[in-house]
This record gives sequence, structure tokens and C-alpha cells, in this order.
Amino acid sequence: MWAAYKFLNIVIVALSYFPSIMIAASPTDYHTAEENVRALLKRQFDEKIADELSHPEEIEGWPLEEYDLGQISGVDVDTSGNPVVFHRGTVVWDAGSFNDSNHYTRADEGPIDEDTIVVLDSKTGQLLASWGGSLFYMPHGITIDKNSSIWLTDVALHQVFKFLPGTDKPLLTLGQAFEPGTDNDHFCKPTDVAVAKSGDFYVADGYCNSRIMKFDKEGKFVAKFGEEGWIWREGKGSTLAIPHSLALIEDEDILCVADREHRRVLCVNAGIQNPQQFGEIVSVTNGVYIGRIFGIAYSSGRLYGVNGAGSAPAATQGLTIDWKTSQVVDTWTSRRSFISPHDIAVSRDGQTIFISEIGPNRLTKFVLRSAPTSAQYDNTLYE
Ligand SMILES: *[C@@H]1O[C@H](CO)[C@@H](O)[C@H](O)[C@H]1NC(C)=O
Ligand SMILES: *[C@@H]1O[C@H](CO)[C@@H](O)[C@H](O)[C@H]1NC(C)=O
Repeated sequence: MWAAYKFLNIVIVALSYFPSIMIAASPTDYHTAEENVRALLKRQFDEKIADELSHPEEIEGWPLEEYDLGQISGVDVDTSGNPVVFHRGTVVWDAGSFNDSNHYTRADEGPIDEDTIVVLDSKTGQLLASWGGSLFYMPHGITIDKNSSIWLTDVALHQVFKFLPGTDKPLLTLGQAFEPGTDNDHFCKPTDVAVAKSGDFYVADGYCNSRIMKFDKEGKFVAKFGEEGWIWREGKGSTLAIPHSLALIEDEDILCVADREHRRVLCVNAGIQNPQQFGEIVSVTNGVYIGRIFGIAYSSGRLYGVNGAGSAPAATQGLTIDWKTSQVVDTWTSRRSFISPHDIAVSRDGQTIFISEIGPNRLTKFVLRSAPTSAQYDNTLYE
């Protein structure tokens, strides 16, 4: 980019030495033409800076020491900026984990002994804290709300939990343990939660229902869209095929859903201002570059996503998505290559992104590349 910019700069310098090559001959016209070229250059330069600002760059060598975690099904960033993962310890989701009616087959083996929630230091990747042993059977989604409460989904239990910070007894438990179901008191392998400032929340349900449910902050069912059971409708309208991750864009009253097997991101009205508009479609991405989208996350005006194995023709990669135009505006990957990404999280300041994988079980950190300083900018353009 700098090379291209330098070249344009040389063109400007050349134009000022040889004004006769300008088509417009009069001094006034020439002055206007030069102003226009400068304005165009400045605009391109500003756009470039914006692009570079938003391009995520991997932090190689993070974490400093590898840790021994199971399948990292979920990641979020806490209010201090540290990544918090939800992992499966020694349990692995395989073809025998559930029977044909979606009941977990290994309940008698008991919950995962080891701590399933682990807080890592954002700078070093070192372990800061952990909890959540002997509570969960098959961890899936983790969401940390603005008050630092932690929301978790367990696909074996078919339940959703809210924990106040520093506690290990849930304040809220939704769904019936080990009972998949389709009514408003049951879930079927719920995947993720999104929480509004008010404490009202949304649940993506899930692998074996195809719906998004909205609850008030006490956990009372409010509304839903989508359908019960597993549906395949080729991504028509607001039907869903494994809604796998949610991102709430609260300022715009938008809820985006990673509609994994339809290979698209569907953004709908979140119904915060006008509850009756909940679920109305606002935008839908084009599937070709998206692939099987596993995770989405939103911060500071940007929607990020990550797709997973089996996404061809799309590469397995990180995506920056403009939800308003439904376009993928940037893609990015890890130098060690993603194998099985499962979730993505972005810090509240929008500067740091984490991607979790479930085999190899690892976390990758990205930061947004910083922009050139304004001093650099001034010297180069107006020398
Ligand atoms: C699955 O397991 C549950 C609980 O053990 C049982 O009630 C149900 O009948 C089983 N379903 C099938 C299809 O085997
Ligand atoms: C956070 O706490 C405040 C004060 O109790 C409350 O009004 C707000 O709804 C809570 N937000 C969430 C996301 O729970």
C-alpha cells in the first residue's frame, strides 16, 4: 500500500513540475485539478487507514505456555479484557454421545470433574482462575454480560445457566436436565446466549430445534422465531439450520445469528424498541464466502465471524462482515492454520479477538493492527 501511495505521490510531484501534461491548461483549472487529485488521494488514504485499523493480526507465540484443556467449545472476553473459555475436559462429543432422540447417553458417568471455566491472562495467556468442576456434562456456549454474569449452555443437559460473578450456584436455570424438548420450558441442545443491557436475553436453540427464543431478565419466555425440531429449508426466510452463535448489536436493535448449516449470517430485528418486530429480517449474508459459520461476535461497529471444517469452497478462516450490506469485507487466518474453529469473541474495546478450536484444542489471539500516526500522515501527504 505504501508503495502504491508513494507512486501516486510521485505522480503529483511530476504534475507540479510539468503542468503542460494536464489536459486543462488554464492556471485555475490546473489548480482545481490538483486539488481534486489531492482530495482523491486523501480519501483513498483515509480508507486505507480504516482498513488497516480493522485488519486482525495474529499474536504469534501466544499463549506463552500451552495449557492442557479439552475441546474449547466456547470463548468470551470478560470486562477486564481477559479471555474466559468453556471447555470439555476429558469429555469428547462423538457419534455415541447422544441416542436417536437426542438424549445424552453418558449421564451415568457423572459431570466433568475438572474446572470447565478457565480465565486466561490476555497478555501472556497464563491461567488466572478456574471454576466449574462437577457441574457440566457437555459444555457449549459461554457469554459474559455487562454486569460480569456468566451464561453457559450445556448440550447434554439441554439447559441454559446464569451465574453471578464469583458464584458457582446458578441464579437462573432454564430447561430440564437431560430432557430435550420443543416447548417453552425445554431446549434441544441449546448453543448460545446473547444478553441485552436490561438483562433480557436470547437463546439459540440449537442443534435439534431451529429457533431463537427471547426471555425477560427473570427468565420468563417472551417470544421466539424459527421452528421446533430439525429443519432443512435451504436457508429460506428466517428458517434456521443449527443456529450456533448469536451477536447482539444493541445500539441498532439487531440480533445476528450464525445459521451454521445454511452457511449464512441472518440478522433480524432484536425487538428491544418494538417487541412485535422481533425476528423481522434485516440482512442475510451471501453464502459463498461464509462457509459453515460457527461463531460470530460484535464490538465497536464490527461483526466478526469464524467458519469451521467443511466450509469449502470457502477457506476455514476469520471473517469481518458488514452486516448492513451483508458483505464479507475482510478475511484473515492464523499462520498455523485453523483446523476446527468453534467460537469467536471480541473484547469490549473492539481491539482483541480470540478464536477457540475443538481439536487441536487451542486458542488464538488477534489484535487490530494500529494505524500510522497522524504525524506520518501529514509529512507524507503535505510535504
Ligand atoms: C434415548 O434415551 C432415553 C433415556 O435413556 C430413552 O428414554 C429413549 O427412549 C432413548 N431413545 C432412543 C431412540 O433410543
Ligand atoms: C446490571 O445491573 C443493573 C443494576 O442492578 C441492572 O439495572 C441491569 O439490568 C443489569 N444488567 C444486566 C445485563 O444484567
